[in-house]
Amino acid sequence: MEDESLAAALEHEHHEIDAGIAATITGPGDRQSLARAISALRRHIYLEEEFVFPLLCEAEPGLTAPVVVMLREHAQIWETLEELERAVDAGTDTGRMLCKRLATQLLHHNLKEEKILYPRADALPPAAIGRLRGVLRSTDLPDGWVCLKKARPGIALA
Ligand SMILES: [Fe+2]
Ligand SMILES: [Fe+2]
Repeated sequence: MEDESLAAALEHEHHEIDAGIAATITGPGDRQSLARAISALRRHIYLEEEFVFPLLCEAEPGLTAPVVVMLREHAQIWETLEELERAVDAGTDTGRMLCKRLATQLLHHNLKEEKILYPRADALPPAAIGRLRGVLRSTDLPDGWVCLKKARPGIALA
């Protein structure tokens, strides 16, 4: 990851998460690898909302509008994750259908991030890039953290 650009590192996280979800759709379904993909996705959303997006909006206020769209989509993705976890816990066979819904949501969401936002992360000042690299490498999802639009639906960014 050290040699990767920030955009490439964030895209790499997308691909790893996608692979974990795809394995549940196409394979026999491994609860542990699905649980790992769900945790990785929650952490990825946390890093974007708490670190990547604020730095992008600060550097380029024109990115606030696409970031607001991403926050709204995170809340929709988060709802699917909660539904999926409930289905897995209850042992119902809706898990695969929910994984398909999640994969579709991520396909559209990730493409927008990769085309519009991530390339701008590589244009951030060196200090911001260094901070984000450190965060990506070593920051865990805090217990109980919930994505911003789920925690505070009326939140407005400046
Ligand atoms: Fe995202
Ligand atoms: Fe992302």
